[in-house]
Amino acid sequence: MTKQSRVLVLDFGGQYNLLIARRVRECGVYCEIKPWSLPLDQIRAFAPDGIIFTGGPATVFDAGAPMIDKEVFELGVPVLGICYGQQLMMQLLGGSCHSSLIREYGKVEVTHEDGSLLFDGIEPTSVFWMSHGVEVEKLAPGFRACAHTAGCPTAAVEDPQRRLYGVQFHPEVLHSVHGTEVLQNFLYKICGLKNEWKMASYSLQAIEECRAKVGNGKVLLALSGGVDSSVAAALLNRAVGDQLTCIFVDHGLLRKDEGDQVMDAMGVLGVKVIRVNAQERFLSRLAGVRDPETKRKIIGEEFIRVFEAEAKKIGKVDFLVQGTIYPDVVESGVGGESVVIKSHHNVGGLPDHVDFKEIIEPLRRLFKDEVRQLGIELGLPEKLVWRQPFPGPGLAIRVIGEITEDKLAILRDADAIFREEIANAGLDRSINQYFAVLTDLRSVGVMGDGRTYDYTLALRAVETQDFMTANWARIPYDVLEKASNRIVNEVKHINRVCYDITSKPPATVEWE
Ligand code: XMP
Repeated sequence: MTKQSRVLVLDFGGQYNLLIARRVRECGVYCEIKPWSLPLDQIRAFAPDGIIFTGGPATVFDAGAPMIDKEVFELGVPVLGICYGQQLMMQLLGGSCHSSLIREYGKVEVTHEDGSLLFDGIEPTSVFWMSHGVEVEKLAPGFRACAHTAGCPTAAVEDPQRRLYGVQFHPEVLHSVHGTEVLQNFLYKICGLKNEWKMASYSLQAIEECRAKVGNGKVLLALSGGVDSSVAAALLNRAVGDQLTCIFVDHGLLRKDEGDQVMDAMGVLGVKVIRVNAQERFLSRLAGVRDPETKRKIIGEEFIRVFEAEAKKIGKVDFLVQGTIYPDVVESGVGGESVVIKSHHNVGGLPDHVDFKEIIEPLRRLFKDEVRQLGIELGLPEKLVWRQPFPGPGLAIRVIGEITEDKLAILRDADAIFREEIANAGLDRSINQYFAVLTDLRSVGVMGDGRTYDYTLALRAVETQDFMTANWARIPYDVLEKASNRIVNEVKHINRVCYDITSKPPATVEWE
């Protein structure tokens, strides 16, 4: 097999590092993020076709600032330094940096000189995103400044002979109008790479790799019905077929028809799934529990217990599959330098008592949207692949207060109507998460000639990039009205519908 072209993104701890990797992959070039401290022999072993230094919070002339072995510039591999990366390149190659007289932050007009490959095809002056308080003072020998702003004479620098480039701005940020073109010029025209990182070829390669790793071994996968575990199941099924067993724990807290949909999708692909109907077990342990954290703990523990019990029936397995994706790898500090952002409370976790040799993480190099593309490639239905996130504890944290089967049934029906109306209005891709919450509040209403005393339902919909902050979605009134009318008319025991207009913070996305 010919070697896959790839770019190495060396992470100096800047906030846009994942974004750089995403953009490079969007240009159809495979890349990986590694910490700046990666030793030179490992850089060589990675055999990159291009290297990008990211930005970072340090000041390049301060003691203890992250450095890199100068020999990296002698590998003959093109380098693009971004922000801190540019300053580091100058400093190491004999130039120098100083604190900028004018600190540039935000959208800034950048004008480039003629004849720079980095700006090939880009209009002479355009807006790029800047965020810096340090700038290049003296160019390193062999370099010229190929772009400037009103306040910064070295907005971009280059030594085309050695194929070394630096930019003070952030091409990866969408506010940089021609940012993608700058990255494309670096990748295609300077590194000579092609737009060829495609899911179809990645899929074949990943299947081959899994097959080689598993050999004749037995593989176990905890299927949650979410996008990641479903795609991982589809991939391993292609790779090793019958050697894979998936365990799908139905805790009775799924949305309307969700369990059946997951089973149907897996059935079509021929994936072997054991569905454990553990509804009663979960509901009896949750009976009378009102406290949200206690609910979460019970569900987490019970989930592992049910999974372990099923796994024991299968006996010793060789591999356990986890649906870890690339942002998890990077955010947990394994892939790059950035600080740990969050380790989410996923139901499942790692069971202690399952006898397995090794973990397989077939999605650990993919971003979420790439996982979705891979899912489509592997034949999963669009509906499943484009599913919005759903918390592990499921509807248990959307039925406020005590959970009963009746309340779950009410919520399921109301939630299904809301989701249907959002989809009918064509909002299902633009709103990142939307669902119904059954409050613990009852109020008086009137229906026909009679008085009602029934539940209040809350609708929640948010727009967000990362779920750490979120804005409430401005759903058109007529869509809300239709959902509200249908819910009150079609779902017994709901006589009032509210729309949650709180963002996160101060609220969270889920109510519990
Ligand atoms: P919050 O409520 O923390 O939600 O603002 C942020 C995102 O995380 C999801 N969420 C969970 N996901 N297990 C999960 O797998 C959980 O316990 C959990 N709690 C919240 C939530 O749906 C939203 O997408």
